[in-house]
Amino acid sequence: MNSVLIRNIKSLVGIRDANVKMVRGAEMKILPSIDNAYLLIENGRIKAFGKNSAAPERADETINAAGKMVLPAWCDSHTHIVYAGSRESEFADKINGLTYEEIAKRGGGILNSAKLLNETKEEKLFDAAWERLEEMRSYGTGAVEIKSGYGLSVAGELKMLRVIKKLKEKSPLTIKATFLGAHAYPLAFKHNHSGYLNLLIEEMLPKIAKEGLADFIDVFCEKDYFSTDETKRILEAGAKFGLRAKVHVNQFNVLGGVKICTQQNALSVDHLEHISVDDIKALNNSETMPVALPACSLFLKIPYTPARKIIDAGLPLALATDFNPGSSPSGNMNLVNSLACINLSMTPEEVINASTLNGAYAMNVEDELGSITIGKNANLLITKPVSSLTMLPYSFGSNLVEQVII
Ligand code: NIG
Ligand code: FE
Repeated sequence: MNSVLIRNIKSLVGIRDANVKMVRGAEMKILPSIDNAYLLIENGRIKAFGKNSAAPERADETINAAGKMVLPAWCDSHTHIVYAGSRESEFADKINGLTYEEIAKRGGGILNSAKLLNETKEEKLFDAAWERLEEMRSYGTGAVEIKSGYGLSVAGELKMLRVIKKLKEKSPLTIKATFLGAHAYPLAFKHNHSGYLNLLIEEMLPKIAKEGLADFIDVFCEKDYFSTDETKRILEAGAKFGLRAKVHVNQFNVLGGVKICTQQNALSVDHLEHISVDDIKALNNSETMPVALPACSLFLKIPYTPARKIIDAGLPLALATDFNPGSSPSGNMNLVNSLACINLSMTPEEVINASTLNGAYAMNVEDELGSITIGKNANLLITKPVSSLTMLPYSFGSNLVEQVII
C-alpha cells in the first residue's frame, strides 16, 4: 500500500458526491470546497478528506500545501494532439488577412496537416504527441481526449489511432481516443464524397473497431465539410460499433447538426460558436454536453461560444483546449479558463466546474475523475500559494499550477 497525505490545504476545491455526474445551469456557480483541509490518497485513489484538524498522523509521503489550493486535475475533452509539423505559415497568412476558410480553400488547413501526417512515421508522431501531452500535464491536465482526423486515408487514420493507443499505454494520464475520419474530404475524393463515405463506413470503421482503437466517433459538421445528412449517416454507422458521438458542430454555421447529435444521444457537441433557439431546446431534452473551445475563438478571431445563453438556459457546459495545429496551437487549460471568464462571461466557479467534472463527463470518465470524491482517481493539481480561487483565471497567461499528481 502506498499513501500520500496532503496537509494544511488552504482550500480543497470541487468536492462532489459520487452520484453527481455533471453540473448544469445555476448549479455551475456552486463549487463546494473545504478550507483548511487535508486529503489522503491510497494506492492512487482518494481515500479520505476533511478538515485539517482531523488529518491522519502519518502516511508514506506527506505534502505540505500551506497557502495552496488543491483541485481535481483539468479534464481536456477535445484535442487533436497527434499531428505532424505545424502550421505557423498559415498563422502569418491570417495576420495578413486571410480567413480560416480561405486558407483551407488554397489547400492549407486540415488537408495540409493530412499531407504531412501521411508522410510521417508513427514513431515521430508519437514523440511529438508525447511532448505535447507532457506540456499539458505541467499545466494541470490529468485527462485528455485525442482525435484522429489528419490521416483521411485508411493507413493514415489507423496510424494516428495506433499512436493514441500507445499514448494510452505509456502515459499515466487518462486518455480517450476519437475517430475523426470525417474531418475533411481528402483531395482524392474532392469530387467523390460518397466514395469517401463508403471508405470510412465500410473499411475504416470495421478495422478500427476490430483493433479496439476508438472510444468515440466525431464528424466536422459544417458547410464545405460534412452535411447534416452525412453527419447522421456517419454517427449511425459509428453507433453500430458502439462508438458514441462527440461532434464538431456550429463552428461557422447553424445547419441543424445539434439536433441530429442529440437524437443520436451524442456525448458532446463541441464548438457552438453559433447556436439557435432550436439547438438549445434540443440540448435541454438530452444527455449531451455542450463544449466551448475559447482558445480556438481567440486564435481564429471568430465569435466566442455564447456560454451565458447556454448556462442560463439551464444547460451544462464543458471547456476544452481544442489543441491542434490549425485553430488552437495551445494545450493550456489555464489560458482556456481565463478566456472563459473574460470572453464567455463565466464566473471562476463555473469555469472550474466546466474544466473538471463537466469535462470528465464529456469524455465519459466522470465516474473516475473530475471531482474530489472518495474512491475516484487522485488526479489532482496543487496550486502555487494563492490569495483566492479567482487568482487562477485572473492571472491569464501564467501557470499557477505548482504540482500535478496523477
Ligand atoms: O476543432 N474545426 C475543425 N477542426 C479543428 C481544426 C483543425 C485544423 O484546422 O487543423 C477545430 O478547430
Ligand atoms: Fe477540434
